[in-house]
Amino acid sequence: MASASLEGTAVALVAPGRGILAADESHATIGRRFDALGIANSAENRRRYRQLLFTTKGIGDFISGVILFDETIRQTADDGRSFTEVLASAGVIAGIKVDRGSKPLAGAPGEQVTEGLDELRERLAEYKTLGARFAKWRAVITLGEDGRTPTRRGLEANAHALARYAALCQEAGIVPIVEPEVLMDGSHSIERCFDVTEATLYTVFQALREQGVSLEGVLLKPSMVLPGTTAPRRAAVADVAQATVRCLLRTVPAAVPGIVFLSGGQADELATAHLDAMNRLPGPRPWPLSFSYARALQASPLKAWGGDPARVADAQRAFYHRARCNSAARSGAYTPELERSAA
Ligand code: 13P
Repeated sequence: MASASLEGTAVALVAPGRGILAADESHATIGRRFDALGIANSAENRRRYRQLLFTTKGIGDFISGVILFDETIRQTADDGRSFTEVLASAGVIAGIKVDRGSKPLAGAPGEQVTEGLDELRERLAEYKTLGARFAKWRAVITLGEDGRTPTRRGLEANAHALARYAALCQEAGIVPIVEPEVLMDGSHSIERCFDVTEATLYTVFQALREQGVSLEGVLLKPSMVLPGTTAPRRAAVADVAQATVRCLLRTVPAAVPGIVFLSGGQADELATAHLDAMNRLPGPRPWPLSFSYARALQASPLKAWGGDPARVADAQRAFYHRARCNSAARSGAYTPELERSAA
């Protein structure tokens, strides 16, 4: 059984109308986003950018938690408060990315495994003292063009690492977000994405059980079931919603308190529309379907800011708008009028 506090945190993170902001980009990842807009990738620019997001007025109405990066959880706002204090005062729970990225899996060409289990117990203890109540670990599953990957070995290696991480988090009193991302890259069909996502989730939940992880104290962060980015046959929003929910119903136990999707490189409005369409499907469903987006919440505010202190208010408006639209999508209440209301 998960402790009451683990379960309580997990349930709070998927409270109605609210979802998670992933702001845990590594220096390299945020560097790529900054580069595209000509913003220097300095610690101070990263601090100013994250401050802009976290101090957006009213954000606690739509955002339940924020996933931070190691540097960010140690940074402070202009007024001297730590970012975790800033978030807490807005009613937002702080989380922390604890994986150390993916590396090629030995003996498995084209497949990757996520690293970061070394000293994880000690790192979690420190993050807890810094205010983190939940954590994230992302596994990356790549669909090979030849149809041969992922292999069972690749799926099991990633599921095992996710489960070891989740068990350590729960031991530390931190809710693990379990994130197996089936990448959109490639020309695969939506049907193949369905099969691979089903096999991935099945393997992940088996590993969680084997490692003694309490399902009431985790959140699942999956990718949606989509055709690959270069697939000749695109999928309608309703088809993505149906395939994704069907896949989850087959694989995710009802004991899991919530599912928070990643956006995975989908265009902002499409990520919102897909979540909305899933929440419009006839139920019942055992778990709330919410969001834990990075790119789909941040692309527009980052562009609006562009590193310019004079454009902070514009960027905050853009962020507020995307958070509001995704909040509406949680109950199938996202409309074209709401999307246009920002203008
Ligand atoms: P995206 O929403 O940009 O996929 O990021 C979510 C995330 O946390 C990736 O690990």
